[in-house]
Amino acid sequence: MPKFNDLDLNNWKEIDLDMNSLWVIPERKKWGKHDNFYHGNFIPQIPEHFIKRYTKKWWWVFDPFLWSATTAVECEELWRNIIWVDIQESLVNRAKELINSNKINKNFILWDSRNIQIRNIIDWLLSAYWQEGFDLALLHPPYDDIIKFTDNKEDLSNCESTQEFYNQFWKVLENTYSLLKKWAYCIVVIWDKYKNSEWIPLWFWCMNEAQKTWFKLKSVIVKNMEWNRWKSKSWWIWKYRALNSDYYLFKHEYILVFKK
Ligand SMILES: C[S@@+](CC[C@H](N)C(=O)[O-])C[C@H]1O[C@@H](n2cnc3c(N)ncnc32)[C@H](O)[C@@H]1O
Repeated sequence: MPKFNDLDLNNWKEIDLDMNSLWVIPERKKWGKHDNFYHGNFIPQIPEHFIKRYTKKWWWVFDPFLWSATTAVECEELWRNIIWVDIQESLVNRAKELINSNKINKNFILWDSRNIQIRNIIDWLLSAYWQEGFDLALLHPPYDDIIKFTDNKEDLSNCESTQEFYNQFWKVLENTYSLLKKWAYCIVVIWDKYKNSEWIPLWFWCMNEAQKTWFKLKSVIVKNMEWNRWKSKSWWIWKYRALNSDYYLFKHEYILVFKK
């Protein structure tokens, strides 16, 4: 058994984890506590995969961008402890009600994940459980300004420019790096965007920011996106617009796998 998970390699052929760098996942998992609160790209299969791959039962997971609590639901399901953070009070409270069993340890912080003081707050929380840090961090930041989450200036979706978004995201990466145990893993899920008719590879520049913090890059996984506009009636309109212009439609996103 690898030292960083509970997988039984005696039955390795039965293990349902995709080890390829191209993931094609036909649809979003909807059962359990995953409701219809959010239809975005961060499907539950992503945290499920990395929790199973890089943690053991009772290990600690960090989610600095909570939103619909997909990672927290998976942690509860798979018996992993979690601390989650968001700047939106309503989301932090919603997740508190949703993740309501006593089977795991969990803590919720209404805070700015960029703020360096978060390190002291979390160190203090983890020390109550005799923990030196997290075993896994799952980061799903706003994709720059593609979706505005709040009007709050602390919100990464409100940065004044894309360069500023990279600078601010770097602060979250730095905090995460310092909060992880030695040899722990950090996953970043990110998409690209178009601006002024130009493709902006957010994933590439976010990967560079992560490498500035001394994270080692372990993998870049490309994952399909099938569940939002691609299945809706507007698909044909988007196809027409693309044919009528010179661009391509986004059908994939990136999952960056780092190790401290
Ligand atoms: C893309 S969503 C995360 C989605 C999440 N993975 C899920 O399962 O639904 C980004 C979240 O980051 C939060 N956010 C933005 N800037 C933040 C900051 N500086 N500190 C903490 N949370 C922030 C937003 O409020 C939003 O909830």
